[in-house]
Amino acid sequence: MYLLGIETSCDDTCAAVLSNQKILSNVISSQVNLHAQWGGVVPDIAKRAHQQRIEPVVQTALNRAKLSLKDIDVIAVTQGPGLAIALSVGLNFAKSIAVEHQKKIIGVNHIEGHLLSNFLQNRRGLPLRSQSFPALSLTVSGGHTKIVLIHHIGQYQIIGETLDDAAGEALDKSAKLMGLGYPGGPVLERLAKTGHPDFLTLPSPLPDKKILDYSFSGLKTAFYYQIKDWPKSKIAQNLPDLAASIQNAVFSTLLRKFELAIKKTQPKLLLLSGGVASNLNLRQRMRVLAKKYSLPVYMPFKKELNTDNAAMIALVAFYKAQKQQFSDPDTLDVNANFEL
Ligand code: KG4
Ligand code: ZN
Repeated sequence: MYLLGIETSCDDTCAAVLSNQKILSNVISSQVNLHAQWGGVVPDIAKRAHQQRIEPVVQTALNRAKLSLKDIDVIAVTQGPGLAIALSVGLNFAKSIAVEHQKKIIGVNHIEGHLLSNFLQNRRGLPLRSQSFPALSLTVSGGHTKIVLIHHIGQYQIIGETLDDAAGEALDKSAKLMGLGYPGGPVLERLAKTGHPDFLTLPSPLPDKKILDYSFSGLKTAFYYQIKDWPKSKIAQNLPDLAASIQNAVFSTLLRKFELAIKKTQPKLLLLSGGVASNLNLRQRMRVLAKKYSLPVYMPFKKELNTDNAAMIALVAFYKAQKQQFSDPDTLDVNANFEL
């Protein structure tokens, strides 16, 4: 089965082609330079860029897979959650080609894509076959922070999530306070390598061990109050220490709750995904945690499978197609707040 995936939920225009679970192509057209000057994603700019790019991006994905639309069996498209006006560009494009070429179409939940992104590829570029359930997943991006217990593919239980900002958003906003560019996560990672994580004392949000939810807005505010009266020169002199402190506070919070979730749910496999999962420090700390509980842990091997991509959307559709869970193109619509 050949699947064409389309993803436009935020600021990346993405298309991918899968042969069953194997990636034949995975094209990501990032809009980061369009949004950087505004310090975050501007929905109207994202929409316009998706409209300009969607057709060439899909064509490139097909070309790289050495296929044409007539070879495709299923079109997979992100239905939500995300920015409604961005999602609708990908969804309308997917529906139009599905109708024109009489292809089956499947609407996909973006978070389910991140959850399953770990089953896309192993080190040799082949699909990871060994799946043990229940699997406990930590998905951390600019828009989402969720601990999800995966009972089986298609059966998910959210057991913790952020009550305010996402972890990536907290990193991005803190970087902005330091006068650094957008997105802040990768810049903080680079600076933090030579900084001291205990330079600032930052709070541990929601310390109650019964609560598996996250809160990052207080952390960001505490960070703000510690540096708000500093002259710019003092901030500039201490960038590595500041970066290490905020990064450490965010990751310690992430892993503290995730460890509580491990103890509570006794999973057989751990998963890490989402844009923040590109961070080598977080990956290393996750490996240490997995070792402590003698559990296997999967994290996407390639950066482009951590961040938003259409290969993960097509993979979700692959599993849905096995169960004949196709969508009706006449009623398939954007669902900006799509629950998992
Ligand atoms: O998954 P993603 O591409 O898009 C969303 O769905 O949000 O994640 C983007 C987020 C941003 O907050 C960005 O700062 C963060 O992932 N990020 C990182 C790194 N690379 C991207 N955070 C920390 N370290 C990184 N290396
Ligand atoms: Zn995402």
